[in-house]
Amino acid sequence: MGLRNKRQRHDEAPHGGGWAVELRGVSRQYGRGGAAVHALRGVELALRSGTFTAVMGPSGSGKSTFLQCAAGLDRPTDGTVVLGGTKITGMNENKLTELRRTRLGFVFQAFNLLPSLTVEQNVLLPMRLAGHRPSRRRAADVLSRVGLADKGRRRPGELSGGQQQRVAIARALVTDPDVIFADEPTGALDTTTAAEILGLLRSAVDRMGATVVMVTHDPVAAAHADRVLFLADGALVDQLEGVSADVIAARMNTLTARAAMRSAA
Ligand SMILES: Nc1ncnc2c1ncn2[C@@H]1O[C@H](COP(=O)(O)OP(=O)(O)O)[C@@H](O)[C@H]1O
Ligand SMILES: [Mg+2]
Repeated sequence: MGLRNKRQRHDEAPHGGGWAVELRGVSRQYGRGGAAVHALRGVELALRSGTFTAVMGPSGSGKSTFLQCAAGLDRPTDGTVVLGGTKITGMNENKLTELRRTRLGFVFQAFNLLPSLTVEQNVLLPMRLAGHRPSRRRAADVLSRVGLADKGRRRPGELSGGQQQRVAIARALVTDPDVIFADEPTGALDTTTAAEILGLLRSAVDRMGATVVMVTHDPVAAAHADRVLFLADGALVDQLEGVSADVIAARMNTLTARAAMRSAA
């Protein structure tokens, strides 16, 4: 089944369908008592299938914690996370692992490819781990979508950083996931290569119906998204839609200045 079909199915759902990611009152506290850190404070959020969302915020605002909780890599102290209509909060570790393998995709700053495997084997890894028969046709399809049709037999070390991140995106797309979580996917790339990678994520959303949630500190990167969410001190404080990098940067500057004043106080 193609991504497009899945997207249509969601859109056609009569009631409440089409949410790829839902966070209901999600809090995450580290430590207790006077030493407690409130990394997330009652985050409420619902992201539609087939959308591209950027998450920004000053250092320490809770971006990584948000992504970890939303992707089922960490457990909230309070609240509920629902992915593709499935409540993951309270799921046992085995089921959660299976859900991550079959229904989520991940793209990291450091690419996280396995150096001893070929590009094709890296792309097929999520299918193998999920116990599906690896489809070389599927690998060829996603590799051609990211512009690497001729690189399947190479090893990651033979590719440039930008090409390695394309492989990681192909790997994230291969299982046709409900959501792709990207953590600073352009953090290790030069500006031109970063723009290519963001264009690829954008086209995965527009042409394949993928859903992308991307943490970034870069306003230019965030401007590729449909919507930018801003975290400050663990709370969702603002969201902007269809705005330029300049507007995003201005919003970030205000939040960063406030965070600096708070920590100085
Ligand atoms: N494992 C941890 N133990 C204690 N405090 C943590 C831990 N992880 C994150 N924090 C704290 O939670 C807050 C949010 O962190 P984080 O989610 O990493 O923010 P960001 O990614 O926006 O920089 C920070 O104050 C950070 O110090
Ligand atoms: Mg972080």
